Amino acid sequence: MSQYHIKSLEEYFQVYRKSIRDPETFWEEIAEENFIWRKRWDKVLDWNFSNAEATWFQGAQLNITENCIDRHLPTRGNKTALIFEPNNPEEKTQHITYKQLHQRVCQFANVLKEKGIKRGDRVCIYLPMIPELAISILACARIGAIHNVVFAGFSATALQTRINDCECKMVITSDGSFRGNKTIDLKGIVDEALKNAPCVETVLVVQRTHSKIEMNEGRDFWLQPLLDSAYKDCAIEVMDAEDPLFILYTSGSTGMPKGMMHTTAGYMVYCAYTFKNVFQYREEDVYWCTADIGWITGHSYILYGPLVNGATTVLFEGVPNYPDWGRFWQIVEKHKVNQFYTAPTAIRALAKENLSFVEKYNLSSLKVLGTVGEPINEEAWHWYDDIIGKGNTPIGDTWRQTETGGIMISPIPFVTPTIPTFATLPFPGIQPCLMDEKGEEINGNPANGRLCVKFPWPSMARTIWGNHQRYKDTYFSTFENKYFTGDGALRDNTGYYRITGRVDDVIIVSGHNLGTAPIEDAINEHPAVAESAIVGFPHDVKGNALYGYVILKETGESRNHDNLRKEINQLITEKIGPIAKLDKIQFTSGLPKTRSGKIMRRILRKIAHKETSNLGDTSTLLNPEVVQEIIENAL
Ligand code: WT7
Repeated sequence: MSQYHIKSLEEYFQVYRKSIRDPETFWEEIAEENFIWRKRWDKVLDWNFSNAEATWFQGAQLNITENCIDRHLPTRGNKTALIFEPNNPEEKTQHITYKQLHQRVCQFANVLKEKGIKRGDRVCIYLPMIPELAISILACARIGAIHNVVFAGFSATALQTRINDCECKMVITSDGSFRGNKTIDLKGIVDEALKNAPCVETVLVVQRTHSKIEMNEGRDFWLQPLLDSAYKDCAIEVMDAEDPLFILYTSGSTGMPKGMMHTTAGYMVYCAYTFKNVFQYREEDVYWCTADIGWITGHSYILYGPLVNGATTVLFEGVPNYPDWGRFWQIVEKHKVNQFYTAPTAIRALAKENLSFVEKYNLSSLKVLGTVGEPINEEAWHWYDDIIGKGNTPIGDTWRQTETGGIMISPIPFVTPTIPTFATLPFPGIQPCLMDEKGEEINGNPANGRLCVKFPWPSMARTIWGNHQRYKDTYFSTFENKYFTGDGALRDNTGYYRITGRVDDVIIVSGHNLGTAPIEDAINEHPAVAESAIVGFPHDVKGNALYGYVILKETGESRNHDNLRKEINQLITEKIGPIAKLDKIQFTSGLPKTRSGKIMRRILRKIAHKETSNLGDTSTLLNPEVVQEIIENAL
């Protein structure tokens, strides 16, 4: 029986049972057999959920880039590690071999060192999907610096918050980025963010768009000349298992984004293991995940998971509709992609377009399909299955979170029978459970409750950077001794899980995790706005779109509402990014509130969903009369 590569349902059940019965032996064997360690661990696992603590492979030493790159050099040196597919299909594709990747990562690592970056320092990476994004991440990991990748669609304010929160010493960016037919001034956004970020000493600038930019003397440096004179080899920094590898921010339902901190050994082991199985990767395969590396999916399943397995992974700079809606399929054909991994929102957008965009291309290389980021609706699932998979390519509906590091619940293709919209079964080592409103675990099937995990797993986040109390309060306090995901889920008679969506104030829009509070904060900064509340409502491409209820101050009442709507969305774009713009903005004289002053979002959600026939009990509200007004003016 192979534990590392599961090939049958029987094997899965055997491995799963073992992983639950004796988790430490199970993970120890996986770790022993498949990775390079500089020193073996003293203890596989230590944990205490009531303090929100877990450590894995304590005492071990390693470097994740030795596992991602160096160890492949003797056997896979000339194999392609990264295929870079540029935004513009006319521009040349780059194939970067493991040997070339090694050299480029080493050179970059030497530049970081020369600029004073040391083990434990935080480096912010704000780059488009170009090879330097992957290379700079790996360069940080090679010298033990902690990378903080910020998705290059975020605004200057969002970037600034993320730089200051973890006190980054350096920012790596580019002159600009290409997205479809647009060119975005990334360096200008960085300059804006750095107006108030005193921790940043150095900015490295990759040349991508050749746009005219300002260089701040003494702070900003073009990368290329530094690379040209950098030494081509760089010894690894030997890291401890629990040394931080990266920080990645995710939205919370309140206040500041949360800097989820991931550590080295457990993250590596779990991502590698799940990648191998969820995609059934074989040596000659070409794997493509369309996510941005700026999200956890990109960290774990464009970069680390594939590279630890010696895979060939595609890095796509562009968007699905440029130059037309056939771009994804053109890339699948061109590189003979075997595993294709995308988000439900992309599938829904693609499914709306003419079938000829798909039919023009040969997709016969595809063996496995995957989705991630939000629940996939049945219609989208069937389109993906029929039109892309031709009915014979298994779909992995993979559930995971920034906090979980790796995929937690997912079918294993060719092993787990799939049912549309079900993420199916937990991965070996993962012990999900469903909790009822009273805080009791629901045993037996079927069941419907709040999704928790009751035992640690190697790639779980260890803390929120600088705020362990918040980590504990957010994830380990709702239910005693359990990690609470914030999602609701169903479990059917066979034990399959179906994720039904967030049960907190986080809304998933086009697969992006958005907290309501930061958006409301942005709106409330508008001088004419007194108060606001955001809810999600169903949208056929984005999954959810945002609906805002806004109370104006007296002074704002006479203003033109359409102009106000534009200004509010402009403010959101500046503070958070265009992804958080509202689709609908309703002005109202009040918001339904409980007697303790809490906004009753349940009611607002129902109105936005156009489900006003059954609003439940509104008599306990402080201001029940406002509900009628909101219904009458609903958009
Ligand atoms: C939330 C986590 C590209 C980033 C990956 C997401 C939702 C994720 C699924 C799925 C239903 C899903 C959950 C989760 N989610 N995958 N297969 N089915 N919902 O990472 O941004 O941290 O978002 O995404 O609600 O809690 P994230």
